Amino acid sequence: MLDTLKRPVRDLRISVTDRCNFRCSYCMPKEIFNREYEFLGRDLLLTFEEISRVAGILVERGVEKIRLTGGEPLLRVELEKLVEMLASLGDIDLTITTNGSLLERKAEVLAAAGLSRVTVSLDSLDDAVFRAMNDVDFPVTRVLDGIEAAAAAGLGPVKVNAVVKRGVNDHTLVEMARHFQGSGHILRFIEYMDVGATNGWRLDDVVPAAEIVQTINAALPCEPVKANYPGEVARRYRYVDGSGEFGVIASVTQPFCGSCTRLRLSAEGSLYTCLFATEGHDIRQLLRSEADDIAIGEFVDGVWNGRTDRYSEIRSSETRDLPKVEMSYIGG
Ligand code: GTP
Ligand code: 5AD
Ligand code: SF4
Ligand code: SF4
Repeated sequence: MLDTLKRPVRDLRISVTDRCNFRCSYCMPKEIFNREYEFLGRDLLLTFEEISRVAGILVERGVEKIRLTGGEPLLRVELEKLVEMLASLGDIDLTITTNGSLLERKAEVLAAAGLSRVTVSLDSLDDAVFRAMNDVDFPVTRVLDGIEAAAAAGLGPVKVNAVVKRGVNDHTLVEMARHFQGSGHILRFIEYMDVGATNGWRLDDVVPAAEIVQTINAALPCEPVKANYPGEVARRYRYVDGSGEFGVIASVTQPFCGSCTRLRLSAEGSLYTCLFATEGHDIRQLLRSEADDIAIGEFVDGVWNGRTDRYSEIRSSETRDLPKVEMSYIGG
């Protein structure tokens, strides 16, 4: 199954909830995601059975990697049950992107259910900076405890994602690199992106990956290494003293749409062919009808075959103002 740019479908990213217990200003600013904000109601969410059915149909079409996202995926009750169902679909890389706040409590059950590994978002080790960024006063130590719990449960190497925002946490990058150097966990710095329509993104807030690498290299000499697999999102660098590696995800300054094999399923059952899509393709209605797997498969084929997306490569002032869906809705 190939899209119009001859890209196969390899990764399925499943958002299991649009809710989160953090309010990172670059993702769910408090002024918008407040008490009046209407999150998806329970009956709109796909059930675990519905999610697994879609995933199974996509595994038949070449998906090898499944990532659970949110919002915060660990807020979904008994997520381990879904993990178990997805793990039974075959030999797939089954991972989760979490803010880590509930990981200490959940790491062992998730590992037992068949999760392969975890990615934890952590934007700074400076406690004041991190508390301000998550905007709910959540301390760094509890996320670090979650990372250690995940590694202890066999969910490593843990990837740690840090979104870099100029003037907010860019003075704490070397401290982070030092902390994770030699830890066995892999830190990745992410360029701040113009996802959604609520975060007030400005190009001036982006610290280009080249600048991030320069900053790290000045303190901790490093050199580029080749990707683990074609189409890897992060560019890898190794410390020349052999103490491990870090990565940068340069979706703004060095877009990677040409090798983008990702399909996203929202919590309410819409398929999105791009992180920056303005519209999804509703599959829930089909799942709740009499349609059999063949009919659902044909629908999915149609969505992927018609795919033209390459937003990050054609980003401009016009595309930026389109009514894009939120990251907390579509997943990272
Ligand atoms: P690993 O195999 O675990 O390394 O997965 P990954 O490299 O896909 O990393 P992950 O899923 O953690 O994604 C990291 C970040 O990269 C996301 O949070 C996004 O900020 C960004 N990202 C991931 N996929 C895309 C994409 O398709 N388009 C764009 N523009 N950014 C993406
Ligand atoms: N730009 C880049 N990364 C983002 N994330 C959330 N919003 C943005 C943004 N505007 C990241 C989170 C997390 C993943 C789900 O996406 O930090 O690692
Ligand atoms: Fe929650 Fe992650 Fe968004 Fe922060 S970036 S608000 S932790 S979903
Ligand atoms: Fe894929 Fe869209 Fe991201 Fe490009 S912008 S890499 S097409 S999700």
